[in-house]
Amino acid sequence: MTMLGENEVPLGVPSLDHDHIGLWKRLRELTAAASGETEFQTLVGDAGRLIRDVESHFRLEEQMMEKIGFPDRRHHIQVHRVMLEVSKLKVQTAHGVDGIADWVSWAVAWFYRHHVDEDLVLALALLKAGVQ
Ligand SMILES: [Fe+2]
Ligand SMILES: [Fe+2]
Repeated sequence: MTMLGENEVPLGVPSLDHDHIGLWKRLRELTAAASGETEFQTLVGDAGRLIRDVESHFRLEEQMMEKIGFPDRRHHIQVHRVMLEVSKLKVQTAHGVDGIADWVSWAVAWFYRHHVDEDLVLALALLKAGVQ
C-alpha cells in the first residue's frame, strides 16, 4: 500500500506543507485504527472529521489559487470536489470496518497522486508569485 508522510518531499510552501503533513498523519492513524480493534462507529466518526479537515485544506488551496489567478484552478477545484464527493459516498455507504479501510486506502493513493500531479504545480506557481 502507498503510505505517505515522513519520506514525502515538501512542496516548499509552508502553509500547504503544514496541512499535508497533518493530513498524512491522520491518514496513517486511521489506517492503523481500521486494521485494529476500533469499532465501526468510531471509525465512521474519525473518517467524517478527516473529510471535513480535507475540505478545509482544499478551501485554503482554492483561496490561494484565487489570490494569484492560478490558470489551472478550475481543473484543480473540480478534482477536489470529486474527491470529497467520492469520499463522503464511500464513508456513508461503508457497511463495516473493511469499508472504512477501503476508503482510507483509496484516499492515501489519491493524495499521493494529487500531491505529485496537481499540488506540486500549484506550489510552483505560488512560489513564483511569492505567496506562501
Ligand atoms: Fe493539498
Ligand atoms: Fe489540491
